[in-house]
Amino acid sequence: MLNSHSILVIGGTGMLGEPVARSLCADGYQVRVFTRTPDKSRAKFGVDYEIVAGNIEDRLSLDAALKGCWGVHINLDGGADPDLERRGVENIAHSAVKAGIERISYISGASVREENCWFEGTRAKFQAEAAIRASGVPYMIFKPSFFMESLPRYVRGKRASVIGKQAHPWYWVAARDYARMVSKAYATPEAVNKDLFIQGPEAYTMLEALKKYCAIVHPDTTVSSLPLWVAAMIARLARQKELQNALPFFRYTEKVREEGNSKETNALLGAPTTTLGQWCKLQVGKEQ
Ligand SMILES: NC(=O)c1ccc[n+]([C@@H]2O[C@H](COP(=O)([O-])OP(=O)(O)OC[C@H]3O[C@@H](n4cnc5c(N)ncnc54)[C@H](OP(=O)(O)O)[C@@H]3O)[C@@H](O)[C@H]2O)c1
Repeated sequence: MLNSHSILVIGGTGMLGEPVARSLCADGYQVRVFTRTPDKSRAKFGVDYEIVAGNIEDRLSLDAALKGCWGVHINLDGGADPDLERRGVENIAHSAVKAGIERISYISGASVREENCWFEGTRAKFQAEAAIRASGVPYMIFKPSFFMESLPRYVRGKRASVIGKQAHPWYWVAARDYARMVSKAYATPEAVNKDLFIQGPEAYTMLEALKKYCAIVHPDTTVSSLPLWVAAMIARLARQKELQNALPFFRYTEKVREEGNSKETNALLGAPTTTLGQWCKLQVGKEQ
């Protein structure tokens, strides 16, 4: 398909931004990747992509990057500074209005609702969504479940652990299915001004998903579930900053559950098809 529309992908270097950038490019869009590290990104993406340097905290760099674009896809993660996502999206929405952008899409999350805003990361996303809706630019807000691509993060050496009770099932989705759906949404006028819940074909609790992943990809790994208080003690005694930083997320996911319904998204964009087993088999060899 030939497509003259340019789409700026903010966070196009990210784990979930890159597959979207590649899917849009494969569908014929002119893709511009916005990044703080342009040299690294040029090496990663090659000549089919335009790379622009910028920072979402710098409105001038956003104004320049959005010039001539038809759409903008936002894929952000503030890491230790969750509010970065709110500040960044507010800046992007402001610049998008000025630039006359006609589509704005954003990766939020399945549990982003007002009652869950006690968690800082969710509050930032909730406020980011509000900024997009208030901008008046036609939008698509994606609310995906957990991504299969995050499972490797639970593995450390020969041990893999889920922290906390994590009793609720989630519809794990593969990034390639999500990326295809984002690109399709850009060509689907009925997807505009909607919250689009994205759920994979099967539901598993975190522990079930991790066990399945390790059985196929890391068969010599021991999988266990650690109570939150034990993980907190290990983090403190062993001065494990990464584990310490991860604890609020696990406290959050212990409490919330997936309540969105993906029926409308699937009818508009085609349902995700990759099962966890299929995805895991594709990882064998890649991760070793
Ligand atoms: N993992 C899951 O299961 C899951 C489920 C639902 C939703 N999500 C959401 O998906 C989102 C994206 O996740 P991800 O894994 O793709 O994150 P990631 O790999 O950490 O990527 C984050 C991106 O943000 C960009 N970025 C950060 N600060 C920036 C700044 N100041 N200016 C410009 N760009 C900046 C980075 O670009 P550069 O470094 O190139 O500048 C990078 O490409 C997150 O908000 C996450 O909550 C994840």
